[in-house]
Amino acid sequence: MAAVDHRVKVTFVEHYTDSLFRFRVERPEYLKFRAGQFVMIGLEVDGKPIMRAYSITSPEWDEELEFYSIKVPNGPLTSRLQHIKVGDEILLSGRAVGNLLPFSLLQGQRLWLLSTGTGVAPFASILRDEGTYQKFEEVYLTHTCRQAEELQYSKQLVDWVYNDPLCDELAKKQFRYYSSVTRDPDYPRQGRITDLIRSGKLFDDLGVPAGLDPERDRVMLCGSMEFNTELRDMLEEAGFKQTSGRTVGEFLLEKAFVG
Ligand code: A2P
Repeated sequence: MAAVDHRVKVTFVEHYTDSLFRFRVERPEYLKFRAGQFVMIGLEVDGKPIMRAYSITSPEWDEELEFYSIKVPNGPLTSRLQHIKVGDEILLSGRAVGNLLPFSLLQGQRLWLLSTGTGVAPFASILRDEGTYQKFEEVYLTHTCRQAEELQYSKQLVDWVYNDPLCDELAKKQFRYYSSVTRDPDYPRQGRITDLIRSGKLFDDLGVPAGLDPERDRVMLCGSMEFNTELRDMLEEAGFKQTSGRTVGEFLLEKAFVG
């Protein structure tokens, strides 16, 4: 990670709940990234930079960069970042990194992007990359949160994907979204994704062949540590190998960053 920080202007802010918001910033010309990667962003506090890793949610073609963030009341960065306004400046690190890339998976028929909370962030970019649809015939995004109101961003994302200038036609044929909540009894779809996979309800609801099979399925995970660990164990039991170092496997994972 380059040590040099640059300042970029905030161009847009949208708040969803007391704990979730998205914002857009100018994209410096030098900043190249691949869908699924992250950068360090931050603010200067008392003359010192406070930087955290944030997945880029905007597509590679976008002239700006977008981020989706939690607001942690006492979080060193997000307690401040949540107050940014259009025209303010934030710090941005020199380059994008990370290996949560569809490119880093073996070819397969179905790609499952499984997320909780702000873990949906990298998939927002991946779902607007033509390469994703060229590599996989079917692409499924699952997003699970505690409350239905926390699904607002991913629901908006579905619209963006189906109306994307490059991917819309492919996405309409190949992409499906599946949401569930765990602590909001009024929402029609209930349950942790791990339970919905085990019971087969996920596949029944989508009307697709049941089970995750390393011959056919590829999986990318982004959520809390517990979520990643539980799903990693489930996948390994089912015979999936994780991409690591020089080995390209059937699944990949990344921790959802919190700052
Ligand atoms: P639950 O409400 O049953 O804990 P969090 O806000 O704690 O990061 O959780 C976001 C979502 O991820 C919640 O719906 C939560 O369900 C779910 N979740 C947390 N841990 C796991 C896990 N190990 N496997 C699957 N889902 C999980």
